[in-house]
Amino acid sequence: MRRIIISAAAVLMAGFVTAMVPTVVMAAAAAWPKGDGDLNNGKKIFTEGKGTVPACNSCHGPEGLGDDNMGTPRIAGQFYTFLHKQLEDYASDKRTDTTMFIMNANAKGLTEQDRKDVATYLASLRKKGDIKTASGKIGPSDLEELKAAGIAVGLPHKGKSLVYWGGNDKGIPACYSCHGFNGMGAPPIFPMIGQQRYVYLVNQLKKWRDGSRANDTKGAMQAVARKMSDEDINNAAAYLATTSFYSDGNLHTAYDPAH
Ligand code: HEC
Ligand code: HEC
Repeated sequence: MRRIIISAAAVLMAGFVTAMVPTVVMAAAAAWPKGDGDLNNGKKIFTEGKGTVPACNSCHGPEGLGDDNMGTPRIAGQFYTFLHKQLEDYASDKRTDTTMFIMNANAKGLTEQDRKDVATYLASLRKKGDIKTASGKIGPSDLEELKAAGIAVGLPHKGKSLVYWGGNDKGIPACYSCHGFNGMGAPPIFPMIGQQRYVYLVNQLKKWRDGSRANDTKGAMQAVARKMSDEDINNAAAYLATTSFYSDGNLHTAYDPAH
């Protein structure tokens, strides 16, 4: 009897380790999930909406790159399995939109097939190369503009240290170990968080920390965020929002559509 209990626990532990520690090595080997929904229907929903659901681009920007004033995320170029999971989580109230209180209704207003189609369309918007602001800086957010608007912006060089090595004094794990190099994403579970909107990153880290977002498998992200101070959050977000996916001397990333 005892042996059975022990082996059941061992199986559980093995599952946990495989699910939670993909490591950068596996990330480089995995493909970027694109989905197999209907691109035309997905594009129609994104640009025109459907029924009571407004067009996605009205809040997420014409190219799906998010908006810091509204606090909406970049959704273009994220991988399919993560986008689809979030839409399902909103539809089933596993995740609650506590930013604009709209995404739960949006997801419920679409059919199961529509959610697949729009996630497939968003994943298809992935382009080769880093994305740039109008003034040529890396990422969707312009940190200087945000500072000028009075938003508290962290220090990217301190954030870099957290992303690469974690905060050993507080036991914050390196973001890199789950989310891949500079947060470029480790499909099918760990989302791209690099080149995401600054305001959205800060908000979500605070929501993980206070438990108002709790749709992470086995509470993995809540455990990370609970160890972070406001300063840690601002610093990590400032680095991630503006970092390149290309390391020195490496001219393509693991997920370039061209490779
Ligand atoms: C009225 C504004 C608004 C509209 C319209 C809207 N969204 Fe959102 N969306 C948001 C906000 C705000 C969030 C962040 C919510 C939160 O804090 O959970 C969000 C979050 C998301 C996320 C989660 C992204 C992530 O990285 O976790 C996805 C996916 C998403 N929206 C897809 C869509 C799709 C698809 C549509 C069109 C059918 C759409 N949204 C329309 C405001 C909007
Ligand atoms: C143990 C693995 C793990 C580590 C380490 C980790 N994360 Fe995560 N993170 C996750 C998972 C899993 C999700 C997706 C949860 C879900 O399904 O919604 C996630 C989601 C996120 C999101 C939400 C993304 C979105 O688009 O909605 C942010 C922001 C984030 N992580 C930031 C960080 C930062 C910053 C660090 C480092 C300080 C970090 N993570 C370290 C596992 C991890």
